[in-house]
Amino acid sequence: MFRKRHVLSMREFSRDEIDSVLDLASTLEPYARGKKSDMLSGKVLALLFFEPSTRTRMSFETAMKRLGGGVINLGPAEGSSIAKGESLADTVRVIGGYADAIVIRHPKEGSARLASEFSPVPVLNAGDGAGHHPTQTLLDLYTIKKESRIPDFKDLKVALVGDLKYGRTVHSLAYALSLYRAEITLVSPPILRMPPQIKADLLTKGTSVREVCDLSQVVRDIDVLYMTRIQRERFPDPVEYQKVARSYRITPEFLQRVKDNLIIMHPLPRVDEIASSVDSTPYARYFQQSFYGVPVRMALLKMLIGNADG
Ligand code: NCD
Repeated sequence: MFRKRHVLSMREFSRDEIDSVLDLASTLEPYARGKKSDMLSGKVLALLFFEPSTRTRMSFETAMKRLGGGVINLGPAEGSSIAKGESLADTVRVIGGYADAIVIRHPKEGSARLASEFSPVPVLNAGDGAGHHPTQTLLDLYTIKKESRIPDFKDLKVALVGDLKYGRTVHSLAYALSLYRAEITLVSPPILRMPPQIKADLLTKGTSVREVCDLSQVVRDIDVLYMTRIQRERFPDPVEYQKVARSYRITPEFLQRVKDNLIIMHPLPRVDEIASSVDSTPYARYFQQSFYGVPVRMALLKMLIGNADG
């Protein structure tokens, strides 16, 4: 059901499709930990990153290489023909002739979809401005399955905290959580609330959604605390950023009030929303989460461009 399709947003995924990616990721985990494989030998993945990235770019590269495939990288836009004025459409058309799939991250919302209209090979959206980040969501769900005490998501209570306006990871994750019927609490400063269209979509699907500003008010009954960075680079006015920059900060003292089974996640990078002294508490899962990017992206790549005979 996955061969050669584009991965642009979570809205295009069914729960069964997501489960099939997560199940395959689980069987591929040994390869992410170093077991040898040539499952993707002869395949080439192109990386087009027009915004900074550490985890997403390198975990795609690791996933490909550990399965025996290769990677080509556009590198910084200044070093490519983009600097000469080449359009994204032409760039993607050309690179689609070199690679079996294209991963793209771009500051403009909708750019991955635009790229998909011109690409002869599958396009994976690795973040389009404040839009979506579907492959991050798949690894977030995988982390919940592996690390929380509620792997079937039944009555799972998730708080999405921080920049819900500009944060693309929470946009994609909210859609997926609604498919799993999790209860969602949105925690943000008033100016960084979840976009109304996404909230409306969640409510239409019958998802339980509540919205608060004060995290301490809700933290006692949360199973997954999903922290996010305030997305400084997306604020039109730096003064507005300063007003909300330090809105939430998780510290060991704060954690005295939480459920025993709480897990704390974060797509990373963090700025100051989680104190480093939290890293050694039993709640912290964000470094495991970033590792899971490898098996989950392996699974996705295998389903999209792997050889039909396995
Ligand atoms: C996120 C992103 O780029 O949207 N990072 C990631 O992919 N792990 C989160 C962020 O930048 O805050």
